[in-house]
Amino acid sequence: MEGHSRKKVLLDVDTGVDDAIGIIIAATAPEIQLMGITTVSGNIDLASATINTLRVLKLLGKSGQYPVHMGASSPLKRPVRYATEVHGKTGLSGQLQDLPVELPRETSAEDFMIDTIDRHPGEITLILTAPHTNFAKALEKRPDLGEKLGEIIFMGGVAEGRGNESPRGEFNIAIDPEAADRVLNCGAKITMVGLDVTKKALLRRKDLETLDSGNPVVNFVKLVTADYMNRYHQTHGEYACLMHDPLAVSVAIDPSLVTTAHHFVAVETESTYCDGETVCDFNGYFQEPPNVHVALELNQQQFISFLLNRIIKAGADLETH
Ligand code: RIB
Ligand code: CA
Repeated sequence: MEGHSRKKVLLDVDTGVDDAIGIIIAATAPEIQLMGITTVSGNIDLASATINTLRVLKLLGKSGQYPVHMGASSPLKRPVRYATEVHGKTGLSGQLQDLPVELPRETSAEDFMIDTIDRHPGEITLILTAPHTNFAKALEKRPDLGEKLGEIIFMGGVAEGRGNESPRGEFNIAIDPEAADRVLNCGAKITMVGLDVTKKALLRRKDLETLDSGNPVVNFVKLVTADYMNRYHQTHGEYACLMHDPLAVSVAIDPSLVTTAHHFVAVETESTYCDGETVCDFNGYFQEPPNVHVALELNQQQFISFLLNRIIKAGADLETH
């Protein structure tokens, strides 16, 4: 696609397993002009999230093609918390360890975000697939930044149903609720791709097994999701894993994958039992203007077909280079 018609994207990650697959989609999509990737502490510590990000780009043969900037090593106010029980000690379930990479010297994700948004006013799609700390720090420096964005699409929160970090709290929001509160009130057009839809974004082992392991990206996805799938099998009885971040990236490419509704969404930051929850005001009790397009339905088959095709294509592109 011509450069001018591609969607200019900034991608913020805490590269763990599903972030890695989101990066694969974003870095190889003809519909996306990837302006850069920023990293933040979340699933794993900042350095590991950054190394993992660089290794995924190296796997794709795209080292040096996209700026990678390191950001926050801890939430704005809360103590740091990792999810190594899900993503493994390395964050990528031990995969790609043999790919040598160097941490970038640039350490300020928020300054890179500010500079990129200023250079492309109204054009940038910011995709957040991690705690919101980096963009919250950018907003601290430049409260006007939200209005200069094209849109924000974030994987996080849950409007109806259970959480995965607390009874009704989702990890990316619950790790840094103060940051999420600032982002959800920044004035940008915001789409929330929460557990409401990502709990249905199920990549099944039987789907992956139909793909050729000779394709290097297919092979990586099989290996990096293996433990993730075994864990899901223990609780749900089938070998599968939730493609949280890949869905958020896919929605930026094909918004028809989900159905959304515009509601006021708040983030709880001062509660004993509900801390870190996203509260979606479906019935307008708070009489606040809607600030978030909440994804409530997913076209599951359409997404899985999209995902598998993009994974195959990413590896096929490699083989032709
Ligand atoms: O709740 C799922 C989210 O938390 C995903 O972005 C996953 O990578 C973790 O960051
Ligand atoms: Ca993530």
